[in-house]
Amino acid sequence: MKVLLVGNGGREHALAWKIGQSSRVSQLFIAPGNAGTAEIGDNVPIEANNLPELVQFAQREKVDLVVVGPEEPLCAGLVDEFTQAGIRAFGPTRAAARIEGDKAYAKDLMRVHAIPTADARTFTKYRDARAYVASRDAGVVIKAAGLAKGKGVIVCDDPAEGLIALEKIMVERTFGPAGDTVLVEEKLTGPEVSVLCFVDGHTLYLLENAQDHKRIGEGDTGPNTGGMGAYSPTRLLNDDLLRQIEAEILVPIVDALRTDGAVYKGVLYAGLMLTAGGPKVLEFNARLGDPETQPILMRLKTDLVDVMEAVIDDRLDRITLQWDERPAVCVVMAAGGYPGSYETGKPITGLADAAAMPDVAVFHAGTHLQGKQVVTAGGRVLGVTALGKDLEAARKRCYEAVSKIHFEGAYYRRDIGAKA
Ligand code: AMP
Ligand code: GLY
Repeated sequence: MKVLLVGNGGREHALAWKIGQSSRVSQLFIAPGNAGTAEIGDNVPIEANNLPELVQFAQREKVDLVVVGPEEPLCAGLVDEFTQAGIRAFGPTRAAARIEGDKAYAKDLMRVHAIPTADARTFTKYRDARAYVASRDAGVVIKAAGLAKGKGVIVCDDPAEGLIALEKIMVERTFGPAGDTVLVEEKLTGPEVSVLCFVDGHTLYLLENAQDHKRIGEGDTGPNTGGMGAYSPTRLLNDDLLRQIEAEILVPIVDALRTDGAVYKGVLYAGLMLTAGGPKVLEFNARLGDPETQPILMRLKTDLVDVMEAVIDDRLDRITLQWDERPAVCVVMAAGGYPGSYETGKPITGLADAAAMPDVAVFHAGTHLQGKQVVTAGGRVLGVTALGKDLEAARKRCYEAVSKIHFEGAYYRRDIGAKA
């Protein structure tokens, strides 16, 4: 079968790597892809947000299955467009993806259905938001309600910081229209985990969990990023907690969406904080996480194409996911300056040496082929991922692979998975 994968990040290289292993796939297109996906399939120069051209391409090439990686095209309705064109596509509809694309909507649904989450107020007027933040006496979290590439959340230790964050989002409009509506949340504390599941019309199947590292700096300091590294599994969740998360969070939100007329199909991602008062939702994503996908897919033994087709056909209850018991660690190598401004076009060396190590995969994120030379083309450049007999061994192998790779200004955290 012919598969079209939409996106160009580290998650998409990992998806391409996994989909490419399926014996059922005869041709894999990636639009637009990166230098890493070019080694696995055919990159197609169509941007992930160019909905009409993606549909035309899939029709022309008689694509059998489309897999949509990133949130923007999902929230813009790419799966709806493919479905209308008679092409099978994996991912939630526009209405269902709103659970990620509109944090105010997600918060309302959680409130109405009593799903545990941080208390929050929603504002569209700067003056009202200001007055509310000024009246608080503890830490606050200021969130742009729309999509902001994982950077639209500012965690503030006190209301004074909160006011600065508000100004940044609502006056300076750093995140553009994504900040037209703002959430002011209570600041929760506790370890964070990412719990992901496949969802079809009526069944929910948990994937192995992972932990992301959102902050740019070691020891979880500095601004939020798209994610600087991840490992799987975490030891933070036992079976009881997982059952609780499924029963109190995942099933109710899928039911709530259905009641709202949006049947959820695809991968649902819950970003959770394990607070003293139990697990609480920080955010929902309508897709696989980046970089959680890299260690999770490295551990998945089951053919991913079979699972995705089962989701589309509502047969998830007949699928069993098989996992490699060994943990996996992914370290993101970023461009100096990220998540602020950074330079691109820096030649990358050592990729083949690192990838040649056993149980190591070097997933490209922001890369580009310039002639035969791979150069940097984004903030998050690579996601170096390794399996090991235990977490310490996986970490060691991962950092050994990282040490073989060089580009000017490369930055990575040395503490991915260290707390575990
Ligand atoms: P989000 O994109 O909403 O998951 O937020 C990004 C990151 O900000 C999360 O991974 C947390 O580290 C942090 N965060 C978000 N909401 C809260 C909250 N209510 N309390 C504390 N930290 C938060
Ligand atoms: N790793 C967090 C995200 O994908 O949003």
